[in-house]
Parts: sequence; structure tokens; C-alpha cells
Amino acid sequence: MFKELPAKKAYTLLESGPIVLVATSGPRGHNVMTMGFHMMVQHEPALVACMIGPWDHSYTALRETGECVISIPTVDLAEQVTRIGNCSGQDVDKFATFGLHALPASTVDAPLIKECIANLECKIADTTMVERYNLFILEVSKIWVDQSRHERRLIHHAGDGAFIVDGDTVDMRRHMTKWRYLID
Ligand SMILES: Cc1cc2nc3c(=O)[nH]c(=O)nc-3n(C[C@H](O)[C@H](O)[C@H](O)COP(=O)(O)O)c2cc1C
Repeated sequence: MFKELPAKKAYTLLESGPIVLVATSGPRGHNVMTMGFHMMVQHEPALVACMIGPWDHSYTALRETGECVISIPTVDLAEQVTRIGNCSGQDVDKFATFGLHALPASTVDAPLIKECIANLECKIADTTMVERYNLFILEVSKIWVDQSRHERRLIHHAGDGAFIVDGDTVDMRRHMTKWRYLID
């Protein structure tokens, strides 16, 4: 009944939080990369675990500055998101190449991305798993959401360049009895 998949394909089933962009700023200017390997680890203060490898130019900026912005794109940006993750800020000015506009953030020097539906300003909270797993624990210091945006569907990386586009929302809030305090 079940078809076996190689264990190394786990990411094609589990990666699918929204694909995000990670914007950094450093002595060489603004840069942005694509990131699929991330997860929430704490509500408050909000902590996010992010896998950013030393092969990424962004890794150096993140380590040097201790901060970044996690920007959330919508489906209309799928092509740019994929291309941003297939070239390096070492060779390309990605903001100019992909028509992104940097806006000033309030708690970090890394920029917000105007074209994204949401921007989360983040600072490194814990680096103890970086050496072993390239895993940074980031604390979210500020969140900005574009309320006026018409296209609101996020995309979820299903691996190897395939994306799942957001569909319907199913409202099960009435069953969240144990976690009532989390609901506005
Ligand atoms: C869909 C997609 C998801 C990606 N997810 C990650 C990730 O989670 N972590 C990572 O280190 N690189 C990830 N990458 C690769 C980086 O985005 C890529 O290496 C990029 O060129 C880095 O840019 P930079 O050198 O300017 O930092 C992903 C790429 C794509 C296309």
C-alpha cells in the first residue's frame, strides 16, 4: 500500500513550511537568499531555527552582523525565489537583478523586502548548533505584514524546485480548547 522512498528524500515531505527569503546586510551591501529549511521552536520570545550553510554568501553576513530579515514571498514571486536560490550574492546584486526593493527595518540593519507579504526582523539568539548542523536559532524582534496586498498565497517547497501553492483555510479554532490562550 505504501511505496518506499529513500530516507534522504525526507525533505520532500517535511520541508514544506512557506519558502522564505533571508535578507542580510554587510560591508558588501544587501543580499538575499532562498531558504526552505526552517521551523518555529518557541512562541515567546519567538524563536526560529534556520539552516543556512557556509556555502551561502549570506552565511558570512549573518555571522558577521548577527542579524537578518526573514521575508515571506507569495506565489507571484515563485520564479524570482527559485532564481535567487540558484545564484550567489558574491557574483550578483540580487536586489537589482530580481527587481526587489529594500526598505529600512527598525531593529536590524538588514533590509525589509517591499515585494514580500511579510518581513520578520531577526537577531541571532543561539549559535551552539551552527558548527554541527549549520543551524541558527534566530529571535524575531519585529514583524511587518503588508495588509493591502492582493495576492496572499504563500508557496511551500516540496523539494527540487516544486512548490505547493496555498489553498483553502480550514477553520478548526473551536477545537483549540487546550491552547485557547494562543488565539486572538
Ligand atoms: C527552493 C530553495 C530552497 C533553499 N533552501 C535553502 C536552505 O534552507 N538553506 C540553505 O543554506 N540554502 C538553501 N537554498 C540554497 C541557497 O538559497 C543558495 O545557496 C543561494 O545561492 C545562496 O545565496 P547567497 O550565496 O547569495 O547567500 C535553497 C535554494 C532553493 C532554490
